Amino acid sequence: MARISNWSLVFLLISTLLHIEPSLSSPSPSPSPSPFIKSSCSSTQYPALCVSSLSVYASSIQQDPHQLVQTALSLSLNRTQATKTFVANCNKFRGLKPREHAALKDCAEEISDSVDRLSRSLKELKLCKVKGEDFTWHISNVETWVSSALTDESTCGDGFSGKALNGKIKDSIRARMLNVAQVTSNALSLINHYAAQH
Ligand SMILES: *[C@@H]1O[C@H](CO)[C@@H](O)[C@H](O)[C@H]1NC(C)=O
Repeated sequence: MARISNWSLVFLLISTLLHIEPSLSSPSPSPSPSPFIKSSCSSTQYPALCVSSLSVYASSIQQDPHQLVQTALSLSLNRTQATKTFVANCNKFRGLKPREHAALKDCAEEISDSVDRLSRSLKELKLCKVKGEDFTWHISNVETWVSSALTDESTCGDGFSGKALNGKIKDSIRARMLNVAQVTSNALSLINHYAAQH
């Protein structure tokens, strides 16, 4: 019985990984990152991750500060969305104990809130570029919502510390939440910088 559920868990994790990895892993970054991306990323909390995740989009970012933050935010949204799918799939696993199920349910709600906030932020950010729109108002909404999204992501990761959950699910969710929260934290730094420079 225990062995069967372990194997189905492994199968679940692998099949979920196969579905999610294309959006999680970026193609290898260009050998010499663009100086614009490098210097912009230097103000973030995770500069190496910032450079490697954004370098793939160097040709569309060019040296455009708006395109830079829009790409960073879009990346954060996409990764959060992928993690939402991952957590939802983990929740379908039949061998979960009630405590595990509860932790996953809380996490699923937090990630879902996070996805909504990031998706609203991306639409709002686009308004910052529209002539006649109030830049300061829109960018401050973006800053507020992305900051709340980051809090949701961190809360979800924290729910998986301790021994409540099966080791494999726990480690895999924590690793994902950590990556997503770092990508979102970087997006927020870039947005704050963009807002201050305007
Ligand atoms: C995020 O996903 C959307 C929809 O699939 C895609 O159009 C967009 O390019 C992605 N963003 C990044 C930064 O990869």
